[in-house]
Amino acid sequence: MIEPAKFSTALEQWYDQYGRKLPWRETTDPYQIWVSEIMLQQTQVPRVKKDFYPKFLAKFPTIESLAEAKWQDVYPVWRGLGFYSRGKNMLRAAQKIVSDFDGGFPHEQKELESLPGIGIYTARAIRAFAWNEKVAAVDTNIQKIIEVLYPQEDIEIKAQQLVDASTSGCVWNNAMMDLA
Ligand code: ADE
Repeated sequence: MIEPAKFSTALEQWYDQYGRKLPWRETTDPYQIWVSEIMLQQTQVPRVKKDFYPKFLAKFPTIESLAEAKWQDVYPVWRGLGFYSRGKNMLRAAQKIVSDFDGGFPHEQKELESLPGIGIYTARAIRAFAWNEKVAAVDTNIQKIIEVLYPQEDIEIKAQQLVDASTSGCVWNNAMMDLA
C-alpha cells in the first residue's frame, strides 16, 4: 500500500511534467472557476475550453454582469451546452451572491452549497482552486483511483489524507482530474 505522502509527492511531480494547461487553471477568481466547473459537468474539456468558457466570460466577465442578465441574454451563450436548468441555476446563484453575499463568493462549504446548482463536489472544487484549500473534490473517476490504490479504506477519509499530504489543494485536485 503506497503511503499518502509518497503518492501525493509522485502525483505532484507527474502533474508538473504532464498536467494539462487549461484556461481556468490560470485564474484564482472563484467566479471564473465556478463557470468552468458547471460547464465541465456536462461537456468535454476541449469544447468548454474552445467555445463555451471564453464566450461566456467575454459576455459576462463578472458576477455582477451575470446577476443583472436575463435568461434571454444567457441563452445565446449557453445554447449548445444543453441542460438549461444548469444555466438558469447559475443566473439564480449569481443573483443570490450579489444580494446575500455582497457580490463576493462565499468561502464556507455550507454557504457555497446553499447556492442553486452548487453541490458538495462543486463547492469543494471552488475552494481548492480559488483559495488553494486542502479539500478533495472526489467524482466517480477519482473515487475509482482511490478504490484501486486503497481497496479496504473509506474513500472520503483517504482522499482527505492524500490531499493533506500534498503541498497544495489546487495542484492535488487538478492532478487527480488529469490522472482520472
Ligand atoms: N472536470 C471537472 N472539473 C475539471 C477541471 N477543473 N479540470 C479538468 N476537468 C474537469
